[in-house]
Amino acid sequence: MKSILFVCLGNICRSPLADGIANKIARDYKLDLYIDSAGTSQWHIGEAPCQNSIKIAKQNGIDISGLKARTLHRHDSQTFEYIVAMDKQNKKDLISLGYENVYLIGEYGGFNGLDVPDPYFFPGFEGFEKVYEMLDLSIKDFLVKEKLWQ
Ligand code: 4NP
Repeated sequence: MKSILFVCLGNICRSPLADGIANKIARDYKLDLYIDSAGTSQWHIGEAPCQNSIKIAKQNGIDISGLKARTLHRHDSQTFEYIVAMDKQNKKDLISLGYENVYLIGEYGGFNGLDVPDPYFFPGFEGFEKVYEMLDLSIKDFLVKEKLWQ
């Protein structure tokens, strides 16, 4: 079974949404994938995803309300073949922690390496709609390009 870990800073806004989107695709298309998410920080360990991420996921038929934030574990580098960062700072942090199999989600879906904007700092819900749209397109392209969806 192939495995993917989505990583952002807090593991409460972007990566739980990525986790939910990828898990839904895996379920719907019966892909043999193990998917999880984590944060580079320890700030929100044990917390549920932020309300706006739960809401935008729900609007798209995905329930992420039961997820709990966690930080990186030392064994993640062995467990996961693909460690997928939400922005360039996350990628840099992962590489400096010694992770090798690190990907940037913005390199997929035609976003030319764009960071997934951190919606934690946005006022309002609109930022989350944009984040959802970007993640949906880039994750689908990632799965196809990495031959995880075939
Ligand atoms: P995330 O968003 O990395 O997408 O989960 C953030 C959540 C919390 C903080 C920053 C980003 N924070 O500074 O607490």
